[in-house]
Amino acid sequence: MVQENPYRLDDRTIIVTGASRGIGAEVARVAARQGANLVLVARSKDGLAAVAGQLDTAVRVIDGDVADTETAERALDAAEDIGTRVWGLVNNAGINPYYRQTIDTPLHEWEDVLRVNLLGAAVFARAVGRVMVDGGGGRIVNLGSIAGLTGLPNIGPYNASKAALDAMTRTLCVELGPSGVLINSVAPGTIRSEMIDGLLNANPALAERLVAKAPIGRIGYLHEAAEPIVFLLTDAASFITGHVLVVDGGRLAAG
Ligand SMILES: NC(=O)c1ccc[n+]([C@@H]2O[C@H](COP(=O)([O-])OP(=O)(O)OC[C@H]3O[C@@H](n4cnc5c(N)ncnc54)[C@H](OP(=O)(O)O)[C@@H]3O)[C@@H](O)[C@H]2O)c1
Repeated sequence: MVQENPYRLDDRTIIVTGASRGIGAEVARVAARQGANLVLVARSKDGLAAVAGQLDTAVRVIDGDVADTETAERALDAAEDIGTRVWGLVNNAGINPYYRQTIDTPLHEWEDVLRVNLLGAAVFARAVGRVMVDGGGGRIVNLGSIAGLTGLPNIGPYNASKAALDAMTRTLCVELGPSGVLINSVAPGTIRSEMIDGLLNANPALAERLVAKAPIGRIGYLHEAAEPIVFLLTDAASFITGHVLVVDGGRLAAG
């Protein structure tokens, strides 16, 4: 269905991973306000139920690990149950639980981070991308980070996972463009969420450094990350693909 208002998402289903809190939950709220139906994926049943209860559109929740192929299959079944076109995938689930120099990072920490941040996104892009190709098109947004574009210390696996996601975005863009599937990354700077709270609580000096480096002089709010993500799902973004949209209050520009 062509939208009269290019910012609307009526009669389209969006699958959002990591939707039990933080940026993913906000993406669900913003997309629902634009008329989208939602499939919300994360491990916490309670968190998912709380977010679903705030949405005024058709919604299904899937509790599971994004790196399990079965979770993606269940998400697609849920989308089919809703019945509107599978239009969007937001690969938002991510973790950043470790803080140490890369040479001191044990391999199991590399595996933990890459499994969720990279493999999880690949699992969903593979399963949902196929449905989009069969359906004549769609949109995928991968959550990168400015961490994938710079050399932020002490979070080596996280940085690598986000840079790899941007590479996946570009590859999928080339492979699926002819089928009408557009793929982009959004690379937030520091956005207030549980993930960031955890990092900042462990390293209070980091909070001051992050704010000092942001020209806007503060860290971002959830909606400031979610609105650009949802924009990329809409018809207003119909000529944008293979792009990394930096949403960081100018932090990268400041060097
Ligand atoms: N906040 C920032 O400043 C910032 C900056 C740049 C990029 N990002 C990226 O934005 C995304 C969202 O971050 P956030 O700050 O909103 O983080 P958050 O508050 O910690 O939320 C992370 C979400 O991912 C889900 N998740 C984690 N592991 C999962 C798994 N194995 N399977 C399924 N779901 C899983 C969590 O749900 P459950 O625990 O219920 O599974 C939760 O819903 C991440 O990819 C992050 O790297 C964030």
